[in-house]
Amino acid sequence: MWQIYLQIVIQIVFILLFIRQILIAVIAWWTGTQSDAPFESTKVSITKKLVQGLKLQPDQKIYDLGSGSGKLIFTLAKLIKNPMVGVEKNWPLFMISQVRKFISPYKNRINFLHQDLFEMDLSLADVVYIYLSPKTNRRIKAKFEKELKPGAIVIALRWQFEFDQLKLIKTIDAMHKIYIYRKI
Ligand SMILES: C[S@@+](CC[C@H](N)C(=O)[O-])C[C@H]1O[C@@H](n2cnc3c(N)ncnc32)[C@H](O)[C@@H]1O
Repeated sequence: MWQIYLQIVIQIVFILLFIRQILIAVIAWWTGTQSDAPFESTKVSITKKLVQGLKLQPDQKIYDLGSGSGKLIFTLAKLIKNPMVGVEKNWPLFMISQVRKFISPYKNRINFLHQDLFEMDLSLADVVYIYLSPKTNRRIKAKFEKELKPGAIVIALRWQFEFDQLKLIKTIDAMHKIYIYRKI
């Protein structure tokens, strides 16, 4: 008898995983139609490499610009104790990150904003993480130039910057391309 129950449970798990993948694909497509950067989370393994390669001070405030469902922030929160802010303009993704925050043990040092990243002030950011798109990276240059304080760190996943005011100080993991810059 228990074999039948086990089979039913396995089938339910597979169906749920399938629905999850479909939802992720639909959200990625939808965010892509609304902005220049479709949704895709940074992998946990990449976040771990980032933390190992970049020794941050615990008081440095980290901003994830385009935070999606909050995966990067929650992974970081497990590994380091810094205060963090995620900014996401797509409301279903923002709502997912809010629900995750509600049940997270790290909620006191995490904040999510439902906002367009181009309309928020970055002058308090010590560290900025971006996993966006080549087009959005080009557009964001002017904002970094105007608002980021000298010494601020910019972490760019996958796409490099061509920008006089950002000095490339390190590349972590040549395969996944994590570029670390410092604002001059
Ligand atoms: C590739 S995902 C990265 C998600 C998350 N940062 C991570 O690494 O796991 C890019 C996210 O940026 C968001 N996004 C794109 N343009 C935006 C904008 N102008 N303001 C706020 N969020 C934006 C998209 O909705 C998407 O969720």
